[in-house]
Amino acid sequence: RDPEEEEAEEEEEKKEEEEARLCLCCRKPDEPPLIKGWIPFIGKALEFGKDAHGFLEKHKRKYGDVFTVQIAGKYMTFIMNPLLYPSIIKQGRQLDFHEFTDKVAPVTFGYPPVLGNTFHGLWEQIKRSFQLLQGDHLEPLTESMMGNLMLVFRQDHLDRAGDWRSGGLYEFCSSVMFEATFLTIYGKPASGVRHRGMDDLRRDFNKFDSMFPFLIAQIPIWLLGRTKAIRQKLISYFLPQKMSRWSNTSQFIQRRSELFEQHDKLKDVDKAAHHFAILWASVGNTLPATFWATYFLVSQPQALKVVRQEILDVLRDDGVEFDASRDVLLSKEQLDKLIFLESSINESLRLSSASMNIRVAQEDFSLRLDNDRSVGVRKGDVIALYPQSLHLDPEIYEEPQTFRFDRFVQDGREKTDFFKDGQKLRYYLMPFGSGSSMCPGRYFAINEIKQFVSLLLLYFDLQLEDGQNRPRLDSSRAGLGILLPSSDVRFRYRLRAD
Ligand code: HEM
Ligand SMILES: *[C@@H]1O[C@H](CO)[C@@H](O)[C@H](O)[C@H]1NC(C)=O
Ligand SMILES: *[C@@H]1O[C@H](CO)[C@@H](O)[C@H](O)[C@H]1NC(C)=O
Repeated sequence: RDPEEEEAEEEEEKKEEEEARLCLCCRKPDEPPLIKGWIPFIGKALEFGKDAHGFLEKHKRKYGDVFTVQIAGKYMTFIMNPLLYPSIIKQGRQLDFHEFTDKVAPVTFGYPPVLGNTFHGLWEQIKRSFQLLQGDHLEPLTESMMGNLMLVFRQDHLDRAGDWRSGGLYEFCSSVMFEATFLTIYGKPASGVRHRGMDDLRRDFNKFDSMFPFLIAQIPIWLLGRTKAIRQKLISYFLPQKMSRWSNTSQFIQRRSELFEQHDKLKDVDKAAHHFAILWASVGNTLPATFWATYFLVSQPQALKVVRQEILDVLRDDGVEFDASRDVLLSKEQLDKLIFLESSINESLRLSSASMNIRVAQEDFSLRLDNDRSVGVRKGDVIALYPQSLHLDPEIYEEPQTFRFDRFVQDGREKTDFFKDGQKLRYYLMPFGSGSSMCPGRYFAINEIKQFVSLLLLYFDLQLEDGQNRPRLDSSRAGLGILLPSSDVRFRYRLRAD
């Protein structure tokens, strides 16, 4: 490394330590150490994204497992020890999440804030609609997704026997999953079985998605080139007069459309913007998650073989011999039995997820961390969990950078005991957030990834093209969910001759 750079960094660190010390005088005695002056203004908050994991680990070594950082004028207290997570997650009353989302999501997706007095009861109605993604409602969603995946696979990829075809793995996974998820959530077009312009929609979605971290950081959209025009185009896809012509729309979206109708202060573009936000929620993380699960399995032929056999066995147990000339149907019940596949998916989520869990203190109070420790928190302070540092902790996960497809299986069952300092962890895998704000689409997400991977393994032989390294994680979305690969991977596939 450049010695000058090193010197500058040391200088910076000295200053930082100095300030942390100076700050002690303006901190109450029970408050955590404050690392100040690190990021004085908002745009700089993005620097955090460059290497959040490295930054937090460095500070943990220096200040212990609870410390406060001033980021973009906000005081953020990071809880770095996963043994302390349960006490944070259960403090739902004093540590709220939604105040934060209602500030950030509306400016990102372009609808008016939901909390407050303008839209009476809308917030609660929206919250309640999330139940339509879970429980008994999962079955029709899963069934519909199966049909839609089969449809896209048949028409785009199962039409030519025998020959190897090659392509980009990310492109492959995301084109199939984007369209099949879209059809499942929003329904089918008025005429025909597939919506026209899906590739354009996805291209625009990707452009918007690449600007997502800037929008979340509250950078004004007019500073972001054509982002505003692209967002408008995406939103206009979901205008009520268009959506009302679609059929077989999921109950989840139907309910949301109905409840938006009850609020006359919501304009048509506002309703459309809400539907667009769900597009982001439903594919923004699912596409990269599908890619990683597929990539890791294809890169380990031994693991792939075990998972493929598991799927064939589950079908056979129910009297179905797989036959490539016919459509496959995997029910929710069958998907639940695919334990090695589920473990592979969880393992790839562990390696690719970097979401930050955020809570905002509703009052000044003393936050109990464990039996003999509490810290003072002031109203408006942000408490943050960063589970990536737990996911990559070598004490919890041996060889944390290695993909072990069966890491979450033990004696043929799900493995749930993971330890830190000799204590069993309550939370050891958190790609979907925690507590009251936990992702309501998580069961659907895992199911649809299982369905996609199953079809891929059943119908195709798969190989990575030679001479490619494992793609790095693109950290520009650090803190916001599943990270994308920094580049696509070339692969070959051909119909299996059985
Ligand atoms: C692998 C795929 C997915 C991942 C990793 C993921 C992750 C997340 C995370 C981390 C949050 C924020 C929770 C928090 O901060 O505590 C969230 C929220 C949300 N997710 Fe997902 N998600 C995925 C798929 C989906 C799907 C498929 C849907 C819908 C069909 C969905 C719908 C939502 C919604 C509506 C919210 C907002 C919840 C709220 O406002 O309380 N997600 N998701
Ligand atoms: C319509 O959706 C239901 C579930 O809501 C599903 O069972 C059915 O297969 C779907 N029909 C078509 C034609 O996709
Ligand atoms: C995988 O993770 C999900 C959610 O994070 C969890 O509900 C499920 O039990 C896990 N399964 C395995 C095999 O680890």
